[in-house]
Amino acid sequence: MNDEFTIRAALETESAQIKELVRVVGVNRLGLSWERFVVAVNPAGEVVACGQIKPHAENVMELASIANHPHYRGRGLARQIIEALLDKAPRPLYLMCLTHNAPLYEKFGFRAIQKNLPKYFQRMTKFFIVAEVFAQTGEDLLVMKLE
Ligand SMILES: CC(C)(COP(=O)(O)OP(=O)(O)OC[C@H]1O[C@@H](n2cnc3c(N)ncnc32)[C@H](O)[C@@H]1OP(=O)(O)O)[C@@H](O)C(=O)NCCC(=O)NCCS
Repeated sequence: MNDEFTIRAALETESAQIKELVRVVGVNRLGLSWERFVVAVNPAGEVVACGQIKPHAENVMELASIANHPHYRGRGLARQIIEALLDKAPRPLYLMCLTHNAPLYEKFGFRAIQKNLPKYFQRMTKFFIVAEVFAQTGEDLLVMKLE
């Protein structure tokens, strides 16, 4: 179904497109080194979807920056990007998401956790409570783990 899209490791020349895509979809704009990204590219050579494995202290790894441009949603691009990232990622692997996105990640075996959160996720969860996003959405932030 997605023959017209290429899923592959990002190129250095795509760094600005990745940052713009992340800005457009409204996910965390910190830590966007292009080297860690897998992207979906359309026939015009534009980056339309992306994701990365982001390292934190103490060897904690996060599936992060999962983003698809609104024009290209619902055709399996995020799924293909997540599959490509999971193929090479160590376990355990963590992520953070709003509650409405949890079913997407449950398809890959991620489960929400409340205990034994790595320090990075403890800090982010506390920060989120006072963050603007909560005021806007009224949704909870989940930390999920893939064993
Ligand atoms: C979430 C997002 C990346 C999904 O991208 P997408 O390319 O449309 O997703 P896909 O078409 O690959 O969907 C993959 C699967 O997840 C499902 N899915 C997608 N979004 C979902 C959601 N929010 N909740 C539940 N299921 C979802 C699809 O139905 C599909 O299921 P299937 O494989 O059984 O058919 C996209 O909507 C987006 O960029 N949203 C804004 C940014 C965001 O919230 N990112 C996630 C940060 S945690």
